[in-house]
Amino acid sequence: MIVAGIMSGTSLDGIDVAIVEIEGRGWNKKVRTIAASTTPYPEPVRAALLGVSNCETHTAGIAMLHFLLPELYAKAVKKLAGAAKIDLVGCHGQTIIHIGKPRRYLGHRVSATLQIGDGSVLAERLGVPVVSDFRPRDMAAGGQGAPLVPYVDYLLFRHKTRGRVALNIGGIANITAIPAGAAPGQVIAFDTGPGNMVMDQLVERLNGRRYDRNGAIGRRGQVREELLGGLLKDRFYGQRPPKSAGREDYGAAFVARLIATGLPMPDLIATATALTARTIALGIRHTGVAAKDLIAAGGGAHNGFLMDLLRGQLPDVNVTTTAGFGIDVDAKEAVAFAILAHEAWRNEPNNLPSATGARRAVVMGKISR
Ligand SMILES: Nc1ncnc2c1ncn2[C@@H]1O[C@H](COP(=O)(O)OP(=O)(O)O)[C@@H](O)[C@H]1O
Ligand SMILES: [Mg+2]
Repeated sequence: MIVAGIMSGTSLDGIDVAIVEIEGRGWNKKVRTIAASTTPYPEPVRAALLGVSNCETHTAGIAMLHFLLPELYAKAVKKLAGAAKIDLVGCHGQTIIHIGKPRRYLGHRVSATLQIGDGSVLAERLGVPVVSDFRPRDMAAGGQGAPLVPYVDYLLFRHKTRGRVALNIGGIANITAIPAGAAPGQVIAFDTGPGNMVMDQLVERLNGRRYDRNGAIGRRGQVREELLGGLLKDRFYGQRPPKSAGREDYGAAFVARLIATGLPMPDLIATATALTARTIALGIRHTGVAAKDLIAAGGGAHNGFLMDLLRGQLPDVNVTTTAGFGIDVDAKEAVAFAILAHEAWRNEPNNLPSATGARRAVVMGKISR
């Protein structure tokens, strides 16, 4: 089956599309990437998405984006696919809020999430069935609706004799720890803290650019240990999984606190980079899994300074990327949503309860035929 996966993450950088061929059943299926691309969000779209993320907003803004995004997604898929025939599409959508843990609300305990980008519009434009809106079903079954990629990490990277950790460095960083010879229920996965999100906002403030290309600015700065030590005191880093983080944790308010220190921007960027590296390493240690390989993906894998800091934190681990496994680092999450869609289409459960905290395995995703 040929499946296109579409992912747009919390960095709000753009639309990642991957086209994959999936063969076989269960945990032994074979996945091959055929093509992958990233299409940047037009600046006004990015600004509008920021304007409806975790804030008081107008319902019209959300509804319009809900219907506009699938038009952009469809264009990105068509451009990548060309004449190639696709059987199915899996679309994560754009998260504008995620409250994975139930909160007290109007006298009830409620968890909630919203990924916009309507599946019906996408299905109509592409003329193939679309699976979208994955997270709610896991949450309905008592899970946090995240992380979802560990199911795919287990499928692709598990090893009989080597403990492995898959790492994604998007806006937020998350890890999937897979002990050697693990059963699915032994997989441990959670968000470790910030990925690129804090660095990105600092860089934008400094020079209007989107990110610290290859980590050049951070490398020139000085990691301020005192500030870093204070940041590491946040209870989140010591909490047991399942746990998830988002723009609500590392958005404008978090960055404003850093800027208020008055420290030079390169030092703040270096410190934010170190916060990402340290909390990833902390997270890996907390899993207790004897990791031989760390397999990184996501845009942060391009940040050479960050990767060097990570290697420094994990001297006994072979730090590598998904590229060595035939998966472009920028395409991994899009590949993941192609696979999750494939399972949904076949009516196979596609959440990993050990990762999300769900009471049971469920089939996530809604199908627009
Ligand atoms: N060459 C690069 N150098 C440093 N950072 C990069 C580079 N390319 C991408 N990034 C980082 O990766 C981010 C996008 O990563 P991505 O995996 O798409 O995250 P998300 O899933 O949150 O959208 C960018 O915002 C940027 O911080
Ligand atoms: Mg992205």
